[in-house]
Amino acid sequence: MTIQLESIPNIDQLYDRAFHIVKEQKNKGAKTFGLATGGTMLPLYERIRKSSLDFSNCISVNLDEYVGLPKEHSQSYISFMKKQLFNTNPFKVSYLPNGEAENPEEEAVRYENVLKSIDLDFQILGVGENGHIGFNEPGTSFTSETHVVTLTASTRKANARFFNSIDEVPTQAITMGIGTIMRAHQILLIAVGEKKRTALQALINGDISEEIPVTALNKHDHVIVLTNLEL
Ligand code: GLP
Repeated sequence: MTIQLESIPNIDQLYDRAFHIVKEQKNKGAKTFGLATGGTMLPLYERIRKSSLDFSNCISVNLDEYVGLPKEHSQSYISFMKKQLFNTNPFKVSYLPNGEAENPEEEAVRYENVLKSIDLDFQILGVGENGHIGFNEPGTSFTSETHVVTLTASTRKANARFFNSIDEVPTQAITMGIGTIMRAHQILLIAVGEKKRTALQALINGDISEEIPVTALNKHDHVIVLTNLEL
């Protein structure tokens, strides 16, 4: 078992711990940070915003971006990151896939090449209800690189809460592949709430199945899992 599991039932304490881990990575010399979006990340980014943590000599890369959503749209992941983190705690450079690229497939290749030129020290991850990481839906190869995905109905439904209606949720995204994510030297996965139990349980049971993307992490040697669930 390579996963370091920390069950912290108190949500404030859980996010204090998550913040501590990020700070520790920075203090140990991490220069490149892989960032995630989603509701799970909000209390962590809030803690970073309120801190004096300075990322101005660091690089950030984001996991994914919706295809076809204007950058200025409040739910584009670039808007999310600016609002939640970059406007107050800027990095030297921040990379995200360009969801407005004319050719999303070419953009995925370009983004993968950016990622290949970077040694990713630390990746923060959330997990979808169906076990997706980034936007790698069930069935994605564990060796996949950055690619264009068609979002499953369940993922679009889960993310509809951020839009006026499910029809507004984009149908495609560009995401780091699972193989891309696995290149990070250290990974922190945060999973909060009962909806994440099934996926998390599979990970903790030691399953390794492409049908549950998060279980790829059982093949990684440096993963910390923070959850409020008792498993
Ligand atoms: C989204 C993102 C993932 C995120 C996951 C969980 O679709 N692409 O990076 O981890 O779904 O989201 P939430 O934290 O809102 O539950």
